Amino acid sequence: MTTTTSSLRAALKSLPENAPEAVVDQHFSTQLLETLGFTSQEILPQYPAGNGSVDKAARKTVGDDVFLYTRTNPYLFVELKGRDVNLSSGSAQYQKTVKQLKGYLLAPNCETAQWGIITNSCHIQLFRKHGKVIYPATPCLEINDEKVDEIAALIRKKIERPNKALTITVYNNKGGVGKTTTVVNLAAILTLFGKRVLAVDFDPNQQDLTSSLGIPLSEGTVFNALTQKDIELQSAAHTYKSPVRSRNSELKFDVLPADITLEDQPQVQLRSLLKTNALHRKLESARQEYDYILIDSPPNWRIYSQLAVYAADVVLIPAKHNNLFSLENAAMAIKQFLPDAQSKKGDGTPVALPIFFNGEKITPAQLEIAQKEIQNILKAAKSEGFNLLPYFYSRYTSSRRDLHIPHVPSYANIAGAAFSRVPAVYRDRYAHEYYTNLAKEYFLQ
Ligand SMILES: Nc1ncnc2c1ncn2[C@@H]1O[C@H](COP(=O)(O)OP(=O)(O)OP(=O)(O)O)[C@@H](O)[C@H]1O
Ligand SMILES: [Mg+2]
Repeated sequence: MTTTTSSLRAALKSLPENAPEAVVDQHFSTQLLETLGFTSQEILPQYPAGNGSVDKAARKTVGDDVFLYTRTNPYLFVELKGRDVNLSSGSAQYQKTVKQLKGYLLAPNCETAQWGIITNSCHIQLFRKHGKVIYPATPCLEINDEKVDEIAALIRKKIERPNKALTITVYNNKGGVGKTTTVVNLAAILTLFGKRVLAVDFDPNQQDLTSSLGIPLSEGTVFNALTQKDIELQSAAHTYKSPVRSRNSELKFDVLPADITLEDQPQVQLRSLLKTNALHRKLESARQEYDYILIDSPPNWRIYSQLAVYAADVVLIPAKHNNLFSLENAAMAIKQFLPDAQSKKGDGTPVALPIFFNGEKITPAQLEIAQKEIQNILKAAKSEGFNLLPYFYSRYTSSRRDLHIPHVPSYANIAGAAFSRVPAVYRDRYAHEYYTNLAKEYFLQ
């Protein structure tokens, strides 16, 4: 128990019940930023970002580079609202504000910005930006006198020690949609872009990721690391090396192989050994070491998929335009499985990225059929209170009816690559181009 009232708490108490934005700005935002560790020389109001300006930007002083004077390389943005704006999670104004914040964070002059906060002094939420991806770092929290210091301490801890890695689980309940292929080729292409990558084979019954890279299966090492406190998960990782002739160098990324001990174990027994947070917890130090952690998951909603999805910041969902189940399963994951993991995890993640189509040729007629099916899925979801539009048509806006869905084409050399134990993107320039596009579409800013 603290006996003194913090300045942030005092500031909050002083706010009138219906404080408009200007008052929240004047009496709350500076105290908030100071509590988060920024001095007055490290905070700028009305920072120009893209088409507008964000209410507050902050960045620590580096040497003699003082943010107030150089105005470069912002680190954190705060988008403020008045108490008349409803920022409770899911409200229309909440969604609008999140969109606004994302626009600022993605502005070309703000590449260095890694964090965004929205607040009206009644609610607050922290978002993280990693490359192009923006995802929640806390849920949308209610602020009150008792909790405000605790919330500020939580946010401060996160922004002072950000995870280096973005953890992406590739998931679809439907089999054969290209989950494993996506993990292998994204891992390989991100490595080509100079990123440090860990690929995790969390499908121990099929082991496709491990075998497509010609890596020996784990015979208990991964299992022991997952179930024993003092064993690091990375100790079970294997480095995949591929010579690149054109570059006269070697490309390397790490792989956590599938473990045969986990193969075909009864679910009940596994449940007692592996808690839902087991993989997430064990990846803690990997999140400081790698730029990307990519997790391959099995085509079902059983223990391994559940642990893999729980461990993710974001879930990438491959689907097939001509397979209704793959589309319905994507919707089900977004409506049911991910919120389920979110409520257990409590930090606002995992969230879904928009779906993409993998493989299969798409004729205009087939595309039209797929769009009709998606319309039905969106309509059904809407009647249940879910807005799935951004997960299917991420470029759709009220002014532009853009039905674009990213697509990795069907291509024989992608399928054939596993035989050579080399990712297709390292052998073939079209495969290279397709996955470069995918990586840029979703991840690379
Ligand atoms: N873009 C593509 N072009 C051609 N073939 C592809 C493409 N993507 C995947 N494939 C092939 O389709 C098959 C299924 O792909 P993959 O194993 O990646 O799917 P999956 O979703 O991981 O399957 P499972 O659900 O069984 O784990 C594989 O033979 C793979 O080589
Ligand atoms: Mg697979």
